[in-house]
Amino acid sequence: MLGEKRILVTGAARGMGREIAVEAARQGATHVGVTDVDSGGLEESAALVRDAGAEALPVVADLRSGPAIRAMVDQVAAWAGGLDVLVNNAGVLDQVFTASDQVAVDTLSEDAWDAVNDINLKAVWLATKYAAPHLRASERGPSIVNAASVSGMTGAGMAAYAVTKAAVIQLTRTTAINLAPHVRANCYSPGAIKTPMGDSHLAVAIDRLERARAMYGAHLIPRRGTVNEIAQVVCFLASDAASFLTGVNVPVDGGTMAWRGLQDVELDVDPADLDALR
Ligand SMILES: NC(=O)c1ccc[n+]([C@@H]2O[C@H](COP(=O)([O-])OP(=O)(O)OC[C@H]3O[C@@H](n4cnc5c(N)ncnc54)[C@H](O)[C@@H]3O)[C@@H](O)[C@H]2O)c1
Repeated sequence: MLGEKRILVTGAARGMGREIAVEAARQGATHVGVTDVDSGGLEESAALVRDAGAEALPVVADLRSGPAIRAMVDQVAAWAGGLDVLVNNAGVLDQVFTASDQVAVDTLSEDAWDAVNDINLKAVWLATKYAAPHLRASERGPSIVNAASVSGMTGAGMAAYAVTKAAVIQLTRTTAINLAPHVRANCYSPGAIKTPMGDSHLAVAIDRLERARAMYGAHLIPRRGTVNEIAQVVCFLASDAASFLTGVNVPVDGGTMAWRGLQDVELDVDPADLDALR
């Protein structure tokens, strides 16, 4: 439970970010700042947060701008009378900034690389940097929770996305070290979750069945995860129930990282070689 905490959630206009904000309100957070570039979605999220029982402040901010990140953090902290939890949830896929067949290391443009790195990694660091004084001043169990991904732990075909998510895991550890012992820092690594991002990744695939198999064929629980299954973990990490957890990465991936995920493909093996082993 998040009793009395004041929270800021990035990427909160839809998907996981919206559900994290609403679940935080359900769990007793008093103030939930929601931020995004999508002002219409933000207003809807703020209304849902209020319905769930918390004060809500929508703040439109582009995470590609350092000054906007600083203003967003300070605005929410001033409104709420302090800040106890920063959830760096916002993230983008390479294909938001280029064609979906131009996301490999040898095809991605510099502009797309920079955009994905700015939003998925640099903004996480900057929000952490600007939130740190507020979190250090908090006496309500302060912490940071960052969105990483299974794509940051295994190889993934999108050059920038996978690299930024791996870096978020390491940034989380660095944050945990630098802000210890007063401020905790942890991250969560979703598998394939049903959100607008997840749907768009499926929609652009030439072979959607093949893409679906690649996205969640490795889940031991054979379906996509829900936004609430992510929000429950984020709220736990932000709560005092996780008071001895810092620097960890929690996979919320239906079991993907627990095994090697055999794909249903023809094996390139000569049967005679296997017979020779008898
Ligand atoms: N959906 C999945 O299957 C999945 C899997 C692993 C990790 N993740 C990660 O979880 C997090 C949430 O993903 P989601 O599926 O809810 O995504 P989503 O695309 O549905 O929502 C992301 C939000 O971030 C906002 N955003 C994008 N660029 C921004 C910018 N420059 N400034 C401010 N806000 C910006 C978008 O407007 C959007 O509201 C992301 O970090 C994502 O990388 C998602």
